[in-house]
Amino acid sequence: MSTDDNQPDWDTLAEKFDLWAPHIAPVGEALLAALDAQPGEHILDLASGTGEPALTLAQRQPRVTITGTDAADGMVRVAERKARELGVDNLQFQTMAAESLLFPDDHFDRLSCRFGVMLFDDPEAGLQQMHRVLKPGGRCALAVWDTLEGMSGVYWTHQVFKDRIPESEQFAVEKIVSMSEGVLEALLEKVGFSAVETQLNRFEYHFPDFDAYWQNCVDSAIMQQQLDALQPEQFDEVKSAFAALAQPYQTDDGLVIPHEYRLAVAIK
Ligand SMILES: C[S@@+](CC[C@H](N)C(=O)[O-])C[C@H]1O[C@@H](n2cnc3c(N)ncnc32)[C@H](O)[C@@H]1O
Repeated sequence: MSTDDNQPDWDTLAEKFDLWAPHIAPVGEALLAALDAQPGEHILDLASGTGEPALTLAQRQPRVTITGTDAADGMVRVAERKARELGVDNLQFQTMAAESLLFPDDHFDRLSCRFGVMLFDDPEAGLQQMHRVLKPGGRCALAVWDTLEGMSGVYWTHQVFKDRIPESEQFAVEKIVSMSEGVLEALLEKVGFSAVETQLNRFEYHFPDFDAYWQNCVDSAIMQQQLDALQPEQFDEVKSAFAALAQPYQTDDGLVIPHEYRLAVAIK
């Protein structure tokens, strides 16, 4: 179920990943605003997963041409199917690792990536490739997770499972937070980007109640490896532990879970 470094297996998750799509849509909106794509331009969306924010951009701006790439073939196939269903013809997807982009130098006008860089096997190599394939003066806009505490969903998972299952089965949070505390900014400058600017943004997951949130976690299989590592009799107790962590975020409008991420913009 998991990969060697205890990250989600994106190929296996591909058909279920979009259960989170409505919740992270605000990040896509902020990213596209920062990207500021112009008619006639060619955009690269890296680690597109099941197609975002590439698909949204393609529908909004028919005169922009978009290439979306991702290392996981299963995610790319879902993205391609969605593009066919939506009838967008200014967008194509390719299976490709960020660290070894098969595009010429100085090829794209702009480049976007939502929640990909911190997961790369080698973020510096991925950023180097991004810099290489961008045209001089081209802009990149990236969203990365920041601190563990700021990413409530992962934080709760870490809190609940760290003392309940063997470390070998726990979700490795180090990668998730690996671009925080100025690391992303330093890497962007190291590989040659200039005018690097980042800001910490907030958004919220909205669920009618805790049970709806829990069902989304289970249905999306995002923590399948950890759940599989439990004894059957532990399952209800684990669900209660999550419910206790979620309790402070119960409002009159349902469960409102705050999240933080870092939005970075830089120029080649
Ligand atoms: C959290 S998902 C984000 C997907 C999409 N951008 C979105 O926001 O909906 C992370 C994606 O990064 C991809 N990924 C991880 N490592 C990668 C790498 N080295 N090169 C390219 N894609 C990678 C995964 O396959 C997965 O689809």
